[in-house]
Amino acid sequence: MRPGNNGLFIPGPTNLPHPLRFAMDLPLEDQRAPDFPNLTLGLFEDLKRIFKLDGGRVFIYPGSGTGGWEAAITNTLSPGDTVLASVFGQFSLLWVDLCQRHHLNVEAIDVDWGEGVPVEQYAERLAADKEHKIKAVLVCQNETATGVTSDVAPVRKALDDAGHPALLMVDGVSSIASIDFRMSEWGVDLAVSGSQKGFMLPTGLAIVAASEKALEATKTAKCPRCFFDFDDMIRTNKDGFFPYTPATTLLRGLRASVDLLFAEGLDNVFARHHRLAEGVRKAIDAWGLTLCAKEPKWYSDTVSAICVPEGFDGNEVVKVAYARFNLSLGVGLNKVAGRVFRIGHLGWLNELMLLQAIVGAEMAMRDIGMPIDIGSGVGAASEYYRLTAAPVAIEAATALRM
Ligand SMILES: Cc1ncc(COP(=O)(O)O)c(C=O)c1O
Repeated sequence: MRPGNNGLFIPGPTNLPHPLRFAMDLPLEDQRAPDFPNLTLGLFEDLKRIFKLDGGRVFIYPGSGTGGWEAAITNTLSPGDTVLASVFGQFSLLWVDLCQRHHLNVEAIDVDWGEGVPVEQYAERLAADKEHKIKAVLVCQNETATGVTSDVAPVRKALDDAGHPALLMVDGVSSIASIDFRMSEWGVDLAVSGSQKGFMLPTGLAIVAASEKALEATKTAKCPRCFFDFDDMIRTNKDGFFPYTPATTLLRGLRASVDLLFAEGLDNVFARHHRLAEGVRKAIDAWGLTLCAKEPKWYSDTVSAICVPEGFDGNEVVKVAYARFNLSLGVGLNKVAGRVFRIGHLGWLNELMLLQAIVGAEMAMRDIGMPIDIGSGVGAASEYYRLTAAPVAIEAATALRM
């Protein structure tokens, strides 16, 4: 063990808040106890408020985001169904791969890494699909590999304009509970998240929200499913139980997570993420570097993928930061391996924590010989944070400290 904290600035798992740690520091419990539903029934309802879902259901599986993808797909589609998707990073790519392994026919539009969902192309394909062969449209709201956020609402509009009945599925693994997400307003049918990012918990829960329309689709969907079967969950969840042993400790943590998100207020959570991300972007400018995200409209408030100049290796920055400064940054994945390194800025964070990542990245970049003026990025970010820090009333500050 190295002394002091590891600076955890990968884009998930994120920092574990003390109240969540305390909430999970309890004896293991009986998942069939008559009072167990006191925990779970309220949690199912409150998660709907986080997803902004009216009607429908939220399912909590032992698993990770990948399991959530699988649950969404297998419960609502049949082998051979056509799915419209786009690939612009490692995670949008992996979701397509998962669909193909379930024998779906994926129309995957290749997009430059650094851009997001190609809404115009989606609109064209949907308008041309008069026979409604496309059964689902996939959107990765926040592509964690490239730090690109896509608007979901225009995809809903493209579906509506075409009068198309396909299900709208959203990967919100690195956005939900950090970046605004409005499931019912945007007509999203399935939304997938995991415990280890915006929910600030250890990995171990896949959280999947389904609209009434998605629940209806399960009646005809023929993809094989067992562990992820919505029906089995509904039968037991309605009384507050599960079809198999749930991750009780993580559910206690999830209760605390939802309470923490509500105490701060979802809009404040989103605003905090935006402000923290803006500070990182000030640092990147001051370093003379650019984001992988090509235009401001794609900039992610949860993760920044930072391009390193020709002749340098982004993964070396990550290695040096870890080895010399006990700082965990995100490596570049797949097509952008070596070309970028990532700073995760989501979850339980404030500006001084994030400055640690910025200064550490700066030192590591200097170490590998990049022409970075020491203090430039951290100076720009700290000045931005200083100028934008709100004067907080004593009572509010006490409540937030929790
Ligand atoms: C956008 C996105 N989708 C899906 C996943 C897969 O989630 P997991 O690693 O929890 O299975 C990740 C993981 O980082 C992700 O960032």
